[in-house]
Amino acid sequence: MTDTRSDPAHPGAPVTLNGVVIHPRWLDVAAQMALVEDLREVIRAAPLLRPVTPGGRQMSVRMTAAGRFGWVTDRKGYRYEPAHPSGVAWPPIPSSVSAIWDALSGCARAPECCLVNWYGEGARMGLHQDRDEADFTCPVVSVSLGDAGLFRVGGVERRGPTRSIWLNSGDVVVMGGPARLAWHGVDRIRFGSSTLLPGGGRINLTLRVVT
Ligand code: SIN
Ligand code: FE2
Repeated sequence: MTDTRSDPAHPGAPVTLNGVVIHPRWLDVAAQMALVEDLREVIRAAPLLRPVTPGGRQMSVRMTAAGRFGWVTDRKGYRYEPAHPSGVAWPPIPSSVSAIWDALSGCARAPECCLVNWYGEGARMGLHQDRDEADFTCPVVSVSLGDAGLFRVGGVERRGPTRSIWLNSGDVVVMGGPARLAWHGVDRIRFGSSTLLPGGGRINLTLRVVT
C-alpha cells in the first residue's frame, strides 16, 4: 500500500510551457487509485482498442472513451461518435473525473468527452492538435496516471519550437486560451516507473467540450 503522506508537496506549483499549464501532483495517490478503479468500469463497458489512422497506420496507444461522445479514428477519418465501435453507448464520465474539470477548467460547460488513452511499453503519441471539436472556448484538461510520459508542447504553428516535460502520475495539464490549439504529443513513456498500475503502463485522460 502506498503511503500518501510520503508524497512531495501536493499539489506542486503550476508550471507553464508555451501557455500550457501543468499542475504537478494535482491528485494525491489515494485520488489516483480511486480514479483507476472508476476507469476499470469504463473499460469494462467500453473495451480499449487500438485504432487505425485515416492513413491506415495502427496507433501504438489503446483507446476508449466516456461521455456523450467518444473521439475515434479509422479509415473514414478522425471524428466524434456517440457510441463505441461495438455499438454500445459510451459509459458516463465518472464524477471523480468531472471533479478535476470543475476544479481546473474555468469553464461553465460540462465535458462531453473523456478520451482514455492507454500507453503500454513503447507506445507514443505523435505531435498533433486537438481540433475536431466545434467549440474551442473551453480548454482541454488532461490527466496523467501511472508511468511517466515525456510530453512535448509546441505553439499553434506546426513548425514552431517545442519544449518537453516529464508528466508524472497525478499531474493535470490544462490547454486553454491561446494554447487551446497548441501542438503536443508524447515522445515516450518510462515503462515501469510507477507502481500505480499493476503491470506498468500509462493512462492519459483528456476531457473536452465537443459541440
Ligand atoms: C493526447 O494529446 O491525446 C495525449 C496526451 C498525453 O498522453 O499526455
Ligand atoms: Fe491531444
